[in-house]
Amino acid sequence: MKIFLTGASGYIGRHVRSTFLRAGYQVVALTRQACPPDANTKNLEWLQADLRDLSRHLEVMKRCDVIVHTAMEYSEDGEVAGADLRACEAFSHTTLPIIYTGNLFSSLSGTDGTIAEAALFNGPERLSDVDAGSRHWRNQVERVLLRLPNRVAIIRLGFVYGGIGSHLCDILPRSNSGAYVYYEGSQHEWPMVHIADVCALYLEALTADANGIFHAAQPGTLISDVVQAAARHAGRSAEARNAGDPDLRDDASAFLERSVTAHNSRARAIGWQPRIQFPDFLDSSPDVDFSERRRHA
Ligand SMILES: NC(=O)c1ccc[n+]([C@@H]2O[C@H](COP(=O)([O-])OP(=O)(O)OC[C@H]3O[C@@H](n4cnc5c(N)ncnc54)[C@H](OP(=O)(O)O)[C@@H]3O)[C@@H](O)[C@H]2O)c1
Repeated sequence: MKIFLTGASGYIGRHVRSTFLRAGYQVVALTRQACPPDANTKNLEWLQADLRDLSRHLEVMKRCDVIVHTAMEYSEDGEVAGADLRACEAFSHTTLPIIYTGNLFSSLSGTDGTIAEAALFNGPERLSDVDAGSRHWRNQVERVLLRLPNRVAIIRLGFVYGGIGSHLCDILPRSNSGAYVYYEGSQHEWPMVHIADVCALYLEALTADANGIFHAAQPGTLISDVVQAAARHAGRSAEARNAGDPDLRDDASAFLERSVTAHNSRARAIGWQPRIQFPDFLDSSPDVDFSERRRHA
């Protein structure tokens, strides 16, 4: 099987790439960077390409058996809808199965913060109708993708930790003095998932011919426990604060103020069995070799 993998140099993509190669698959690995020819190996071919320009690479795409999309362009304000939409538009010109990487933190949630592994089907019909300015644009993209004739599996990730390239310690909320923070007495939860378990779900999605939405997340970890474990790991302090404390950075409070609880029964039904419980951190990688540090090695 030959896999067209976007985001192959990123945190999620580089680990997924290694997992696919170890499983014996061929990978066409996308990055915007120029790659030296010796970065290619028997089963790995780097392709310099931009998400906005993938229609130039339709022939390469069509020579693959499946698209795995883990790339995401970011601005100061977060994820960039336009690049993702252009990429999905290009995918829709193929008949290939698509595995799309979603994000539980930008998924629609019920009033109690619980996110079901189901899509709402009252959104736009076409990618061109997606409201790129909406907070829920990614859910709109998911709905359109699930209506394509292609087989589409959407893997919505929780907060991923472990392994080379983890952003966990960079994106946790901090106070102005740099301490990691959580709200005093908060029982709010985040769905955490180790990168090795994420990779295992992508493999299951390939081999089980999965269709629909799948959550890569283990529910039930308190935000305060995540913040304290990350602080121990990073050698920083962790401080409990009251909501509204003026020393919190602007974006911190929004991140801390609600629970995100994700069901993962559909992922388990295709054979996914997450094995690593938070905070087994950076050291427990039973199936994934995290020794690779160079982006194109
Ligand atoms: N990390 C998490 O905890 C987490 C949690 C939930 C969801 N997710 C989702 O997982 C996906 C991947 O996240 P990540 O953490 O792996 O991000 P990342 O480490 O920042 O990697 C982003 C990747 O996207 C590529 N990319 C960015 N803009 C591009 C463009 N215009 N054209 C082509 N490639 C482009 C980058 O490649 P080059 O720079 O080499 O071109 C890089 O490989 C995102 O959809 C994210 O929302 C991640």
